[in-house]
Amino acid sequence: MKCFSMIFIKDRSKNAKRESRTAPELRNQSKSDSSALSRTRTSSSSPSPRSIPELYKEKEHNLRVFSFQELRDATHGFNKLLKIGEGGFGGVYKGTISPLNGKGEPVVVAIKKLNTLGLQGHKEWLTEVQFLGVVNHPNLVKLLGYCSVDGERGIHRLLVYEFMPNRSLEDHLFKRTPTLPWKTRLEIMLGAAQGLAYLHEGLEVKVIYRDFKSSNVLLDESFKPKLSDFGLAREGPTGDRTHVSTAVVGTYGYAAPEYVKTGHLTVQSDIWTFGVVLYEILTGRRAVERNRPTSEQKLLDWVKQFPPDSKKFSMIMDPRLRNSYSLSAAQKVGKLADSCLNKKAKERPTMSQVAESLKEAIQESSEVSSSVDKAHLTSSSRNGGRRSK
Ligand SMILES: Nc1ncnc2c1ncn2[C@@H]1O[C@H](COP(=O)(O)OP(=O)(O)OP(=O)(O)O)[C@@H](O)[C@H]1O
Ligand SMILES: [Mg+2]
Repeated sequence: MKCFSMIFIKDRSKNAKRESRTAPELRNQSKSDSSALSRTRTSSSSPSPRSIPELYKEKEHNLRVFSFQELRDATHGFNKLLKIGEGGFGGVYKGTISPLNGKGEPVVVAIKKLNTLGLQGHKEWLTEVQFLGVVNHPNLVKLLGYCSVDGERGIHRLLVYEFMPNRSLEDHLFKRTPTLPWKTRLEIMLGAAQGLAYLHEGLEVKVIYRDFKSSNVLLDESFKPKLSDFGLAREGPTGDRTHVSTAVVGTYGYAAPEYVKTGHLTVQSDIWTFGVVLYEILTGRRAVERNRPTSEQKLLDWVKQFPPDSKKFSMIMDPRLRNSYSLSAAQKVGKLADSCLNKKAKERPTMSQVAESLKEAIQESSEVSSSVDKAHLTSSSRNGGRRSK
């Protein structure tokens, strides 16, 4: 996904400067650390509701501060064999850390190591620490701690997360076989919707995630989804404001058109992006695929020709599902995706409404599969218990 990331970057430096002024200081390893970070501190008055940096101050003690040496040891010197991914931020390694009090089993973790420390990289790292330090939801990845060292031997910024053994939704939709079954796809999207609903509606401040895409939906041992990558997250508008103005960053093919055009960011931008990923799980195609014929390269342009209430709709369904899905539930999901993709941002559903619609689609899919199971059982009992082909 790296190649499409951060395509729309307008006026990045101006924005970075503006945003960095609200950043708090983090607990650091070396004396010189704090000087780099305290430059970004502010003593501005605290608005109501409290901002993420303010909420972070109350919770920062929950995060463990690692030394660079600890994380180097945890990954055997950032060994290539332990590398599990590479994103725009840098490499991700599987590692093992000892528990904080030294008692109990070692803990398997994922360690993200920032590649080069430009202002943007540092800003994203700090945003991620602050947002993930504040939020707490079963569908958001847990940040266990971080490492921040500005020493004579170099500048290091790392993040330590709970390890997600089933990698990302992107991996399973586009890279791996066997493919994800229909109901699992819906359940993953329901969990992701609940994570986003919590960000939009369940906190003191509205949080706009801004980077929803299949590679940021990580899967635990039982395929429960958790959103990762909070480097682009922003606090939503407060009071009478309708939007926050930002530089346009995100991943090509996913961003809402009004956001790309104006830089005005709202929670509805996340909802548009959710609609794009709904079409990815229906079709098994990425938001943008350059190796397809021109008319099929942009997923949203292609699916427009196959509306959910038309007979043609089933033609866009992922062939890897091998017809093992409920068509009526798929049509419902198609309509839901279209409502998320409404050009008029205000008319898009809220994330909790999206979650409710997905629950109904899952219910419908369960009914279809249980009636298929019943028919199967009846025919096998008629066959004297032999398997019907
Ligand atoms: N907590 C984690 N547990 C297990 N694997 C992870 C974890 N975090 C990230 N990964 C793996 O590392 C890969 C790279 O993640 P990363 O977020 O850096 O990049 P990306 O999402 O692919 O791209 P981008 O930088 O555009 O967001 C992920 O796709 C995933 O497979
Ligand atoms: Mg990511």
